Amino acid sequence: MSNNSGYLPIPKSFATSAIHVAQNPDQWPAMDVVTPISLAVTFKQDGPGDFKKYEYSRSGNPTRDVLEKVIASLEGGNFGACFSSGLGAATAILSLLKQGDHLICVDDVYGGTNRLLSKVAVKFGIQTTFSGVDIESFERAVQKNTRMIWLESPTNPTLKLCDIQAISALAKKYNILCVVDNTFLTPYLQRPLSLGADIVTHSITKYMNGHSDIIMGAVIVNEKKLYDDIKFLQNSMGIVPSPFDCYQVLRSLKTLAVRMKQHSESSLIIAKHLEGHPKIEKVIHPGLPSHPQHELAKKQTSGHSGMLTIYIKGNLESSKKFLKSLKVFTLAESLGGYESLIELPSVMTHAALTQEHRDILGIKDNLLRISVGLEDTEDLIADLDQALALI
Ligand SMILES: *Cc1c(COP(=O)(O)O)cnc(C)c1O
Ligand SMILES: *[C@@H]1O[C@H](CO)[C@@H](O)[C@H](O)[C@H]1NC(C)=O
Repeated sequence: MSNNSGYLPIPKSFATSAIHVAQNPDQWPAMDVVTPISLAVTFKQDGPGDFKKYEYSRSGNPTRDVLEKVIASLEGGNFGACFSSGLGAATAILSLLKQGDHLICVDDVYGGTNRLLSKVAVKFGIQTTFSGVDIESFERAVQKNTRMIWLESPTNPTLKLCDIQAISALAKKYNILCVVDNTFLTPYLQRPLSLGADIVTHSITKYMNGHSDIIMGAVIVNEKKLYDDIKFLQNSMGIVPSPFDCYQVLRSLKTLAVRMKQHSESSLIIAKHLEGHPKIEKVIHPGLPSHPQHELAKKQTSGHSGMLTIYIKGNLESSKKFLKSLKVFTLAESLGGYESLIELPSVMTHAALTQEHRDILGIKDNLLRISVGLEDTEDLIADLDQALALI
């Protein structure tokens, strides 16, 4: 998407905010231009209970504070909170619920979120119904005790979109909180709060950090009461990131805009190249007019990221051969880093699902998930072509 035509505009001053929000050097005694890493666990008090801003680093930390403000600002939200992982953030959000509450989650959700809901939350008396992406399916699943709807858009790995505006409106009608996991697009490409969602969450581990060297999560909200509850859980459950990691992510966010622009452009070029390829059965990319929800993508996003899903012509053996032959793409789980990754969901990220569930979602042995990195696009295409020629 070099020019964004037909999509929502990129928010004004996005890159400027990433670089400057909450980072005025005047706030530090030495006027540091770079936010200092504050390692202190505890902070001196003038008298008992009489502390300036911080008392104990789990409850609040100066480096983390800056990061939380930057992330909130990029999502267009009032408040942010960072966690030790994406699933840590999910744990805090689910802990807003209580025993006997019910949640509706999109069925094609991140495997770790599925596991958290179906193996952990259930032990605390929180039941989940998994739903297709269509709004009718969500509405059918609403019960008297439904308190939360959990969306991911696009989904993983089949890149189906949820109509965030419509589903958020449905949630409001029934007084249900609507949560959107925005990991796959980042606020550069999608801003769920502006579409009516109550809570946005991220695996910062992916695009937001973008360098495959930090595990972190975040929650962004607009309402003060919701923020106070999340902040209480962050502290009470102790799911906090380290100050060093916060510093690293602050550094990474400074290039989020340029990175996302390139991921977006490269993945579309590669998707278009592969779409006509004789060894490819199907390409899924919301930026392609062949994507069944291409119009929805234009309506609710500013473009698509580096995530791309392909079905090659062949079987498990062909997939394995193809993966082994790649030289620039690395065979590995995860996504959103500067390096291009590729994986086989049926055997790797989605192996925990039952065969039946995988069949329903279309996760077959010839489906490959690609995270297009920041290498030269022509090198990536040449690598894919040489490996496809061998199957
Ligand atoms: C990776 C991921 C998570 C979990 O994040 P961690 O940082 O690995 O705990 C959640 N949601 C999505 C969409 C992810 O890709
Ligand atoms: C933007 O891209 C579209 C589609 O590729 C093209 O038709 C249009 O002319 C471009 N607009 C500008 C202003 O470059």
